[in-house]
Amino acid sequence: MRLHVADHPLVAHKLTVLRDKDTASPTFRLLVDELVTLLAYEATREVHVEPHEIETPVARTTGTKLADPRPLVVPILRAGLGMLEGMTRLLPTAEVGFLGMQRDETTLEAITYANRLPDDLSGRQCFLLDPMLATGGTLVAAIDYLFALGARDVTAVCLLAAPEGLKVVEDAVGDRVDVKVVVAAVDERLNEKAYIVPGLGDAGDRLYGVV
Ligand code: URA
Repeated sequence: MRLHVADHPLVAHKLTVLRDKDTASPTFRLLVDELVTLLAYEATREVHVEPHEIETPVARTTGTKLADPRPLVVPILRAGLGMLEGMTRLLPTAEVGFLGMQRDETTLEAITYANRLPDDLSGRQCFLLDPMLATGGTLVAAIDYLFALGARDVTAVCLLAAPEGLKVVEDAVGDRVDVKVVVAAVDERLNEKAYIVPGLGDAGDRLYGVV
């Protein structure tokens, strides 16, 4: 697994406002959107491209365009949905699949409750969206799922990660280079309820309310 921590003052500023418990949902959603677009720039550094010939008003030239097959963006429901627009803003031609995964609050195991993905992901670059990499269980299950369908590589885009969760992902995927995690910050630890500390609380609740 390769880890990229977005080290940028704007990311740090937006993350600080996001963490603040007094930041209300509308601002929280906007900040998630902005942060994801900044992370998407890093996450797509190795997106597949191919040469593309065009004619400018002055001359013919060979540029670059996204290669086929198109990338697949997969938000993990529910909180990953809050990251979708920020990601597709930079990748408007990407396809979008959905994976509903929830952590069982007793066993802390990931349960898949919904799945809307193409049957065959052969050759596809996949971008998983999940704001909080806490225990790592959900992310490992989602990565396994995408590879089982044939994904070529998987990049997880997360806002925050706990060291414990990163280790779980690392232990599960080892040093394979086709798994990358892009994150705005790595926090201190998990607490006894598997919340990230200092974190930002429950990302889904802060995006959408307690429902
Ligand atoms: N999920 C969240 O939304 N927040 C955490 O801190 C951990 C998991």
